[in-house]
Amino acid sequence: MVTGLAGVRPGSDRMIVDPWTRAAGALRALYGERADFAEVLNTLRVTVETARRERSDTLKAWDADCSDPAWWLDPGVVGYSTYVDRFGGDLAGVEARLDYLSDLGVSYLHLLPFMKPRQGESDGGYAVADFEDVNPDLGDREQLKHLLSMAHTRGIRIVADLVCNHVADDHDWALRAKGGESRYRAFFHLVEEQEDVARWEANLGEVFPVSAPGNFTWSAALQAWVWTSFYPYQWDLNYGNPAVFLSMTDTMLRLANLGLSGFRLDSTGFLWKRFGTGCRNLPEVHLVLQAWRAILDCVAPAVVLKAEAIDRLEEVLPFFGSDAERECDVAYANGVMAASWASLAAGDATAVVRLIGASAKKPRHGAWINYIRCHDDVIFSGLSPHVPEDRQAAAALALTETEATSFGRGEVFQTFGGVPSITGMAASLTGADDPNDPWGVYRLLMLYGVCFSLDGLPLIYMGDEIALANDEDYRLDPSRAAEGRWLGRPRMDWAVAEGAMRGEPGVATTTRSRFKTFAEIRRRHPAFADRRPAEVRPSGDSRVLTFTRGTTRPLLVVANFSDAPIRLFPDLGRWIDVLADHRQGRGSFDVGPYGLHWLELQA
Ligand code: GLC
Repeated sequence: MVTGLAGVRPGSDRMIVDPWTRAAGALRALYGERADFAEVLNTLRVTVETARRERSDTLKAWDADCSDPAWWLDPGVVGYSTYVDRFGGDLAGVEARLDYLSDLGVSYLHLLPFMKPRQGESDGGYAVADFEDVNPDLGDREQLKHLLSMAHTRGIRIVADLVCNHVADDHDWALRAKGGESRYRAFFHLVEEQEDVARWEANLGEVFPVSAPGNFTWSAALQAWVWTSFYPYQWDLNYGNPAVFLSMTDTMLRLANLGLSGFRLDSTGFLWKRFGTGCRNLPEVHLVLQAWRAILDCVAPAVVLKAEAIDRLEEVLPFFGSDAERECDVAYANGVMAASWASLAAGDATAVVRLIGASAKKPRHGAWINYIRCHDDVIFSGLSPHVPEDRQAAAALALTETEATSFGRGEVFQTFGGVPSITGMAASLTGADDPNDPWGVYRLLMLYGVCFSLDGLPLIYMGDEIALANDEDYRLDPSRAAEGRWLGRPRMDWAVAEGAMRGEPGVATTTRSRFKTFAEIRRRHPAFADRRPAEVRPSGDSRVLTFTRGTTRPLLVVANFSDAPIRLFPDLGRWIDVLADHRQGRGSFDVGPYGLHWLELQA
């Protein structure tokens, strides 16, 4: 019998309801009206019991080791996100580089999709043909299990994408649907009449307005329009059908039992569709997530759920759920990320000040993932209403070469309602890869320094630690040329990385050693152990972001988003800059162009 015994999980202050009851409650709200609901619940019960039985003793020990505060809330955790092939060639290659990651201070490794992808184009692996098979170009399940266990012995937890919103059009479920099996036709949202497509579309937005406009794709095999929020070969699943929920839950539990420490729930906001709505972030999506969190609490309580909800802050916050009804444990702070770029472009911290202030509303059990870049584009339109649209658009363009005065070499990827999104590596967007730009490296380190200063989990995007530049060559590769996001997905440059480890003079050595310093101080300074959100303080100058962390030896974080040296706080008293070899001063504080400081204020 499933009971709540396995599921009391640290990190939650009020675990008043056992997880099975929570899961059943969420499912009742979703599917309780159906005549077959008792059967649905029973199937789930069997799935959960099987997964609990099959979970190995080693993994149960990992679960038990989920001490308080839970591992993802530990200030010592530093994340790293990468494609397997771009970083290590294959899974064995990633394993061979674990020491590199440990040396950098990484203990959370997000590997972008490595499951068996669709044949041909696969949206960087986000069109999955088989969730339980490894991409043969990268290795096999045994190598994956080996990597997971080797990483764990080094204190590195591996998080994988669970592409739960859609499957590839050559996934078994899609093939069976095409073959006419009614059970599998019901796994997808099929619309038979073109007028009905138009009725749905009237309320929907678009994810790829330029490269894949619209939300439906005609399938001759299905004789219907199939819902495709992303590329035409990525078929959205129909969670209104409990069989889909049950199948994806089974997949999740099997993957958890391989030794994964978390799931990045891809495109989380899209999971539920209801006619007449925009079909994003609907209340039913949150019930699905509550159920998944509770089910994992029954089987694998230390496994985290990460929301990939790249939206306005007000839409993202609910993905944490509440402390009593938890959903995701971590979520991308995409608002602060985009605002950091907007502020850098404008030379004015107003946008980032607003977003950091508004992000403090997150419930206690969750943590923001603080990042600057990832494998996707930077979407500025999510900054509404905190940043006016004309400023969003101006910021995006200012980071591309279209502006003669720009330090950034980003590229416009697509445009949302007049606001462009941009691609590019952090080093190229900040000018850190330009030997003639004296401030490029400062900009890069300032942005990452803010990530490392905030409450939550800082996430390094592969290569940023060595200021890796844009991959301009993607345009020469016919399989990638049409997808601008490949500009920001270069191969790791191991010659440069190894040179940086040896301390060879250069930008890579500077950035890598600074990242290590950020991580080391975060690990041991008591201000970062305090889980309260960063508190924005008025700096007296709109170009400078200042916030405090902690109450024991509190830190004042100072980040100058402009190229001007600025004198702040005439009455600051005595301070020690823990990031600058404990340099001390009294009274005012001078921050240089793009300066980043952690000041311990003395009584
Ligand atoms: C997420 C991924 C993105 C992908 C999309 C569709 O947003 O980050 O790379 O294109 O989902 O799966």
